[in-house]
Amino acid sequence: MEILRATDYQVLSNMAAEIVAREVNSKPDCVLGLATGSTPIGLYKQLAQLHNTGKLSLSRIYGINLDEYVGLSAEHKLSYQHYMWYNFYNLIKADARHVNIPNGLAEDLKKECERYDAVIKSLGGIDLQILGIGANGHIGFNEPAEVFIKNTHVVQLHESTRKMNARFFDNMNQVPTSAITIGIGAIMRAKKILLLASGHDKSTALHKMLHSDITPQIPATILQLHSNVTIIADEESLG
Ligand code: PGA
Repeated sequence: MEILRATDYQVLSNMAAEIVAREVNSKPDCVLGLATGSTPIGLYKQLAQLHNTGKLSLSRIYGINLDEYVGLSAEHKLSYQHYMWYNFYNLIKADARHVNIPNGLAEDLKKECERYDAVIKSLGGIDLQILGIGANGHIGFNEPAEVFIKNTHVVQLHESTRKMNARFFDNMNQVPTSAITIGIGAIMRAKKILLLASGHDKSTALHKMLHSDITPQIPATILQLHSNVTIIADEESLG
């Protein structure tokens, strides 16, 4: 794993945008695995700026999001569908046909998971997967568990994850208890992985990801087995 140290969040976002831009320039219709959360917001902003100033064209990319809360509609302000349009896709006037996000309102969630895996397969897999990392070591919503789950699945969110994400909701009761997440299989099959970490509350997870034995109790440790991982981390998260 290559670790790039960023002096601050803005630098981290710019460095990440450079790597994504390189990918898009070499393959304009590449498949980007996209993450939500606080960490990639600066990256999306920087990418949109490059796109809107004619320095990069994002018009042919395909996006595959990692996850979505179960029970939130696309219009819900805290759904990841809403997040992606608000923070990225609207800014680049994306073609909705190139946007893929699990449907957390699907009547049959198991079928939705199968559909999502089929979409990933039909696009030929992910070229560059952007990841954040949870304080508990999760990637996407692959939470600490007894085993690594390969395929897209419904997951019960850990209390620690719900508490972390409660900052966005009015109160803890509103935080969804489950989500759909792509599995470890699709993440590990991505040709390249770019993991971003910012802030002191990620330092333990980052350290464990790099140095612990590989275990589903710290899902990010599986990335030790991937041959092309770049980590961009700021000073605070590197400790
Ligand atoms: P964050 O979330 O970017 O909001 O810190 C990352 C994650 O939980 O994967």
